[in-house]
Amino acid sequence: MIKKLSRALILACITILATVSSSTFADGKASRATIIYDALVGKQHDVFLGWGYSVLVEHGGKRILFDTGGQYGGFAANTKKLGIDLKSLDFVVLTHRHGDHTSGMAYVLQQNPKVKIYAPLETGSFGSPTSAPVVRLASRRVAETPEDLHYFDGDKATVDSPWPGANISQIDKPVEVLPGVFLFRTVSENKGTLELNELSMAIKTSKGLAVFVGCSHPGIEKILAAAAEIDPNIYSVFGGMHLTDATDQQVANIVENFKFKWKVDHVAPGHCTGEFAQSLFTKQFGPNHEHAGVGEVISLPQ
Ligand SMILES: [Fe+2]
Repeated sequence: MIKKLSRALILACITILATVSSSTFADGKASRATIIYDALVGKQHDVFLGWGYSVLVEHGGKRILFDTGGQYGGFAANTKKLGIDLKSLDFVVLTHRHGDHTSGMAYVLQQNPKVKIYAPLETGSFGSPTSAPVVRLASRRVAETPEDLHYFDGDKATVDSPWPGANISQIDKPVEVLPGVFLFRTVSENKGTLELNELSMAIKTSKGLAVFVGCSHPGIEKILAAAAEIDPNIYSVFGGMHLTDATDQQVANIVENFKFKWKVDHVAPGHCTGEFAQSLFTKQFGPNHEHAGVGEVISLPQ
């Protein structure tokens, strides 16, 4: 009897240990997202609040900086206040070319000049082979044009990166940059941001994809559809969903679709999601709506 009991006890202990190790401590480090920059206050009140977005994602022992906020000084102050080590990043994602997502990049490069940076393929931005269209524009020689209206030699008409020497890779097709970590590009067809390219990130977790979005200029549902191509099981969505300009009815439809079409379990909306959308997300998701204010640390499944 005692032998049977002790065997049952040992088995129970092994089961508990196995469960803990697979759900929380698979690599010895918890998976989590720390909000570094946004206009939403969290529990910590002595941080800088500003328009823009930045979140540190830690998963599987990897550290990914997703966007860099909208102000150099505010981003730098928040990383110091929150104890974010920018020297040990695996890579940085710049979701799109707007300043409210890129303005802290110069500070990151001061701390970590060689860090790998992923940005969307975008004509005329981020400094890559994007000089090519400029060369094309400047290289047509028209003999009748007055001498002082000729462009200089078209071959030299290049545009430098805003961060000269930075290690930037531009993404056009979905790519698995680390095991289970995907970056994918969508393109805006919306007024005001027509043809703007945006990167989003999807991380495979034990509960499904955790999707991170910067500003969702192409449309949050377009991004979710692209994420679903990687894995239709979307667990969570973090970031700016750009619903500030949408009508109340459009917002209501999108929030409903999160729950019933895309079957998202958990949301951590921030940045340009908008107050009306936030109010509907809180009602629709209840405790599975995460308050993603600056300084908040939100757990992710392994
Ligand atoms: Fe933005």
